[in-house]
Order: sequence, then structure tokens, then C-alpha cells
Amino acid sequence: MKKYNVAVVGASGMVGGELLGLLESRRFPVGEFYPFNSGRKPASVVFRGKKYACAAPSLEALKRSDLAFFVSTDEVAGEFAPRLAAAGVWCIDDSSRFRLKHGVPLVIPEVNGAELRPDIKLIAGPNCTLTGAAVALAGIHRRFRVTELRLATYQAVSGAGRSAMGRLEKELKIYFKKGAVPVLKGGKFPRPIAFNLFPQVGDFDGEGNSGEENKVEAELKKIWGDKRIKISSTAVRVPVLRGHSLAAWFKVARPCSEGALRKELLRTPGLKFLEKPENYPTPLENGLRTEVVYAGRLRRAKTAANEFQLWIVSDNLYKGAALNSVQIAERIIEL
Ligand SMILES: NC(=O)c1ccc[n+]([C@@H]2O[C@H](COP(=O)([O-])OP(=O)(O)OC[C@H]3O[C@@H](n4cnc5c(N)ncnc54)[C@H](OP(=O)(O)O)[C@@H]3O)[C@@H](O)[C@H]2O)c1
Repeated sequence: MKKYNVAVVGASGMVGGELLGLLESRRFPVGEFYPFNSGRKPASVVFRGKKYACAAPSLEALKRSDLAFFVSTDEVAGEFAPRLAAAGVWCIDDSSRFRLKHGVPLVIPEVNGAELRPDIKLIAGPNCTLTGAAVALAGIHRRFRVTELRLATYQAVSGAGRSAMGRLEKELKIYFKKGAVPVLKGGKFPRPIAFNLFPQVGDFDGEGNSGEENKVEAELKKIWGDKRIKISSTAVRVPVLRGHSLAAWFKVARPCSEGALRKELLRTPGLKFLEKPENYPTPLENGLRTEVVYAGRLRRAKTAANEFQLWIVSDNLYKGAALNSVQIAERIIEL
């Protein structure tokens, strides 16, 4: 079997760690392995039982790979991925840098994997929040056309990276020692997150929408290839370690029964639909190293005809990032 030299830029991060585990467990045919981090502090990773020191990336070093996973920052992806792709190296980027760029496919393999082509070397993976909705509602959209989608998101702290996980743990430790949640300075969060939640994921624009809410809208339209759909969301950070949850309200263009939607959900690729209302998924039970998106509590909404509700849970670090990237890689080596 042909082997591929693989670079992972951001190997020491949250997504990077999961990616390494998945390359190993899914037996991706890795030849040489090159891990990179910021180089700001010494770091090493273990891959297939061998310890590797991480180094800061350079174009020269990256060019030794056949396939590079970018799981670091928008800036790093922006600096290296286009030049690397132009040199013929497959680049799969999990940052938001190229997701909306014309000519860069934004791919969830089971939804729009057909957009992968041998000559397009730079591919983006979507934001971890909309992945759940994009997978869960893909079949319903194809068959009945979703015209409007409203989402309330409940996003885990790991969605903001390793330092955000550390922030929650630190706040909790101080709370149990001193009896009050501290207001710590710095970090990625605008408010304390222990025993709290806040409706801000990213910066606000002039209209009061957060960065995450805008990403959900734009990226879902691109992945489904449908600009007509109206999407509105409120993105909320919650003190869950891992697993994003979504409450979704969607309207369909064509009249249909709840039973027809149920049937569609049961055969949607990448989705496990839990039919009994009391079997709804939760982040703790269904958001930790799970390879499919989970959904439950399908019901007709009381607010409008042809409007339905669904509860969706997915692992932000797996299907929302690392697993999706590895699945893209598995597809492109078949092209
Ligand atoms: N977390 C999620 O659920 C999720 C989901 C979808 C997409 N993503 C995207 O995936 C990427 C990684 O997220 P994460 O949660 O894994 O973040 P993270 O835990 O903060 O890890 C970031 C990684 O990037 C490395 N890095 C930072 N600056 C760098 C530089 N200048 N050059 C090379 N490497 C650098 C870090 O190295 P050091 O350890 O040396 O700092 C670390 O390995 C981000 O683009 C994020 O938007 C994340």
C-alpha cells in the first residue's frame, strides 16, 4: 500500500492530539511523520509509540510532506497552506482562514465529499458548531428543502482550544477552594465560564451578531450549496468540556409528515437518530470520541406550519475537526 508523508501543524493542540490518535486508530497509511507547533516552548508528541519533538513550521520543512493537516491558527494556515498547495502538497485546513474562499472546497465528506478533486490541493474543514446541523439535516434538506433554520447552540469549552479547557478547570479549582467563581484576567473568554454560560462566541459585528453566528450561516450555505436558506442563530458557550449541542428549528418548503422526516433522518449518512424522545443525546454520553452526529427529539414545532424541531449533539473535536479532516484525507488518497 502506498504511504504518505504527513505533517501536522498544531500537533500539540487539542485538535492535533485527536488527529494523531485517529491517524493511528484508522490506520491511515503514514510514511514519515512531521509534527509542528509554535516553537514557543518545547513540546513533543507520541505517534505510533514513538516520541517526536515538535518544531516551528517552515515552508522547506513542510514541503517534505505529501499531506499537511493545519490544526493551528488562521495566520499559520494563511502563511503556509496556499504556497504548499501550489507546490503539490495536499493541505487540509481546520482553521477558518480559507473556508469561504472561492475555489477552496469546504467539505464534510458524507455531505459534499463529491466536491473533492485531484487538482484542488487546498481543502477546508468547517466550523465545529455547524457540522452537527450540516450532517443531521442534509438528507431532509435534499429531499424537502430547508427554507429557514434557527439554531441555539450550547458549545463546549474545548471548542476554544486547550487554554480554554485549562481556564474552566482553574476556575472550578478556585471555586471549590474559596467558595466563589473567580474573575480571571486574560484568556479567550469574556466572562467566567464555571457554573455560567454566555451568549458570545467570537467578536460582535456592527449588527450585534457574533463571529460564530456569522460563520454558521455562511459556511452552512456553502456546504449545502444553497444561498436561499435563511439562517439565524444564537451561539452560547457553556461549561461542558467536550461536545457541542444544538437546538434546531427548521422549516421545509414541501409539506411533509413527521414520519417522512423520521425516515429521512434514519438513513442520513453520518447520523445516528435516536427515535424515542427520552433517548435524546447529551454531550457527556454522545460527544466524547464519537464518530457520528447524534440527533433526537424530532417534533413538529408549535409556531408555524411545516416547521419542526430537532436536538443535535456532536463531538466538536472529532466530527467537528480532527475526524472530519482524516475522513477528507481518506477520500483524497482514493481520488
Ligand atoms: N477545538 C475545536 O473544537 C475546533 C473545531 C474545529 C476547528 N478548530 C480549529 O482547529 C485549530 C486548532 O484548534 P485547537 O482547539 O486544537 O487549538 P489549541 O488547543 O489552542 O492548539 C493550537 C495548536 O496550534 C499551534 N500553534 C499556535 N501558533 C502556532 C504557530 N505560529 N506556528 C505553528 N503552530 C502554532 C499550537 O502550538 P503551541 O502548543 O506551541 O502553542 C497548538 O499545537 C484552530 O484553527 C481552530 O479554529 C478547532
